[in-house]
Amino acid sequence: MTEEMSQTAAGSAAIRLQKYLAEAGVASRRSCEQLILDGRVQVNGTVVTQLGTKVVPEKDEITLDGKLVLLEEGKQYLLLYKPVGVLSSVSDDRGRKTVIDLLPGVAERVYPVGRLDYDTEGLLLLTNDGALTNLLIHPRHEIKKTYLATIEGTPSAEDLHQLTKGILLSDGMTAPAKVKLAKSRGAHTLLEITIHEGRNRQVRRMCAAIGHPVQALKRVQMGPITLGDLQVGQWRHLTAAEVAALWSSGKRKRG
Ligand code: URA
Repeated sequence: MTEEMSQTAAGSAAIRLQKYLAEAGVASRRSCEQLILDGRVQVNGTVVTQLGTKVVPEKDEITLDGKLVLLEEGKQYLLLYKPVGVLSSVSDDRGRKTVIDLLPGVAERVYPVGRLDYDTEGLLLLTNDGALTNLLIHPRHEIKKTYLATIEGTPSAEDLHQLTKGILLSDGMTAPAKVKLAKSRGAHTLLEITIHEGRNRQVRRMCAAIGHPVQALKRVQMGPITLGDLQVGQWRHLTAAEVAALWSSGKRKRG
C-alpha cells in the first residue's frame, strides 16, 4: 500500500483526491491539484479545496465543474521517459532493470506499447488496455513516431533524400520518412526523423545504411503524445483528452 492510501473502517482504500482525478485521466497530478485549489472539484456535493483530502472511489461522488468524474475500472494509461539502460519489458531473466521497476506506485499491471531499444531513451506509453495497444502498434494505422537521432558525421543532401524516400534494409524497403536536419556540428549531426513503421532497430539501421551510425537516440513523440517537459525516468498518467486523441489517431488510413 502506498503512503497515499489508507484503509477506511469499511475496508475500502481511500486515496488522495488529486490522485483520484489524475487516475481518472482528468489531467496530470499537479494540474489536478490546481483544479482543487481553484474550487472546481466537489466531493459529495461539497467544494473541496484541501489538497490532502482522501476519497473512497467506490463510495464518494467526485465532480469537476459539476460533471461526474469516474475511474474507468482498472484502465491505466501512462507516459514514461524511458532512460537508456532500461528494458522495455515487464521482466528480465538476466535481472536487468525494466520499465516496470520505474513505476513503483502503480498497482495495476501495465505493458509497454511497442518497445524502445535498451540503448534508446524517450517516450514510452504503457497501458493495460489491450485494444488501444493493438491499435497503436498495428502497421495499418501508421502511427507516427518521431525520434531525435545524433548521428556520426554530416550527411549529404543525397543521404537525407534516401532516408526520406525509403531505403533498402535487410528486411526490405522502408516507407518514406520525414527527415529534418536539426543541428550539424561536423563530428556529429542531430536529425529529427519521423517514421510510421515499427521494425526492429529501424532508425539505427536506416542511419547506418547511409553511412552515418546513430550515437544516441531519443523518441520524442508518438501519434499526438509528446514527451513535453517530463524528465528522464519520470512518468505521468495520460489525461482523458490524450487517451481520446490516441484512439482517434489510430483511425484507419486505408483498407
Ligand atoms: N528505432 C531504433 O533504431 N530504435 C528504437 O528504439 C526505436 C526506433
